Amino acid sequence: MGDRLEIGIIHGSRWGAGLKCCSYLKEKFSSLGHDVKVTSVSETDPKTYTLPDILIISTPVYMSFSRMKVRRAAKAIAARGGGRAFAVLQTGGTEKIQRDRISLIMERQGWKRTAPTIKVLVSEKEKGELRPGWEEKISEFVDSVLSSKGK
Ligand SMILES: Cc1cc2nc3c(=O)[nH]c(=O)nc-3n(C[C@H](O)[C@H](O)[C@H](O)COP(=O)(O)O)c2cc1C
Repeated sequence: MGDRLEIGIIHGSRWGAGLKCCSYLKEKFSSLGHDVKVTSVSETDPKTYTLPDILIISTPVYMSFSRMKVRRAAKAIAARGGGRAFAVLQTGGTEKIQRDRISLIMERQGWKRTAPTIKVLVSEKEKGELRPGWEEKISEFVDSVLSSKGK
């Protein structure tokens, strides 16, 4: 195995679908020997947040926009650490990746994308379950995130 990476995952899950994705991400990255910390954006102070080697940002999509409090946290963290790696995961009811403003925010501050943004689908607009196939999607995302880091 390559170097042990510090992977930070921040999420703005409201009803739990996004949090479930993040827990699974943690399980996957941890099983490959990496250090993973999952935090809610509500508990994250962007000014003191320890910048990881890779930051994964998980956001629900409302009215085709990523959740405002996630965007705000991403923006404040992005301003502190250009040159680091990031990737974005959206949850929502429609297949399309919608207005991925978080990626724009990160790239504008010099962060490097490690994987294309993914969208993990839920069954209902509110309080939905993750739709079948979500684990495979996340596993592929993990491979994609790590392959561009050469791990
Ligand atoms: C008012 C409202 C608007 C929504 N708009 C979208 C949308 O534009 N696109 C989409 O894919 N999902 C949309 N959704 C579904 C949410 O994205 C979904 O409930 C959320 O991702 C679930 O994540 P959570 O369980 O982690 O909170 C909407 C949900 C609500 C309540």
